[in-house]
Amino acid sequence: MRRARYSFDNDDSIAADRHRMLAEVLDPFTIERLSALGGLDGRRCLEAGAGGGSIATWLADRVGPSGSVLATDLNPRHLRAGAGYTVLRHDLSTEPVPDPPWDLIHARLVLSHLPARAEILDRLAAALAPGGTLVIEEWASAYRGLVLAAPDPATATLVERYHDILVGRLLPGNGGDPAWGSAVHGAMLAAGLSGVSTEIRASSWAGGTAGARLIAVNIEQLRPGFLDAGLTEQELDRLSRLADDPRLVIRGHLTYSTAGTASTAGSASTAGTASTAGTASVAGTAK
Ligand SMILES: C[S@@+](CC[C@H](N)C(=O)[O-])C[C@H]1O[C@@H](n2cnc3c(N)ncnc32)[C@H](O)[C@@H]1O
Repeated sequence: MRRARYSFDNDDSIAADRHRMLAEVLDPFTIERLSALGGLDGRRCLEAGAGGGSIATWLADRVGPSGSVLATDLNPRHLRAGAGYTVLRHDLSTEPVPDPPWDLIHARLVLSHLPARAEILDRLAAALAPGGTLVIEEWASAYRGLVLAAPDPATATLVERYHDILVGRLLPGNGGDPAWGSAVHGAMLAAGLSGVSTEIRASSWAGGTAGARLIAVNIEQLRPGFLDAGLTEQELDRLSRLADDPRLVIRGHLTYSTAGTASTAGSASTAGTASTAGTASVAGTAK
């Protein structure tokens, strides 16, 4: 059986564009949510699956000299050591949570891609310091009815086909669950976190803006899969051009931002248990 692999490899030449677009689309909402948690000065923060590092950079600015930020990724090539945070190559699926306990753990658009997402969430929750907060942000993108406006009906149908293939076949084929965002709240409650809250946000994305341009990036990174699924080279080229056409307007994916807090009594003791032995230290000392 083929092993599930992450869909959007950071080694692809267009991966840096993806990270820039994700930051443009999502950072304002993420920053609003993280800012609402209160002061971060002096806090220890883990940014898991940090991608291009925009949120790690923002956190590094907030924690000040007495705090710290660790940015991890399976492939950390787009992270910049020296930008105020520490970089660690780390696999959330197979390794223990590094260096717990954490005052804040944030992971955005990461766990939904990973088949072991439920166990990973449990491990992250267990790696919180007493009173620490876990923030998981995911797109619930499995919804149909993406197109809000298009130059003609055939174009709208083509874009819907592209989306159906992406969320119904390609992402699940690589172990992803594009509907998982709505399950995070329940998973945090089951993990014993308290004060769990979810905010959900979406807006329209017109061709030429970062959200719509992700269509072209997805096609470049997953082209063989779209061809296997029945789209032609010509249709894929047309979709890539449409990503820049302001006459196409799509519904941005619903962003579920869910936060939960560890009890002040603390429960970081099981953070080290992962499916495969890793090298990071197990949780122990609470701050
Ligand atoms: C869609 S990107 C999101 C990046 C960033 N969190 C953001 O929202 O801008 C997903 C990131 O998760 C990383 N990733 C994928 N599988 C991972 C794993 N098993 N452990 C850690 N990171 C992983 C990828 O390399 C990629 O950088």
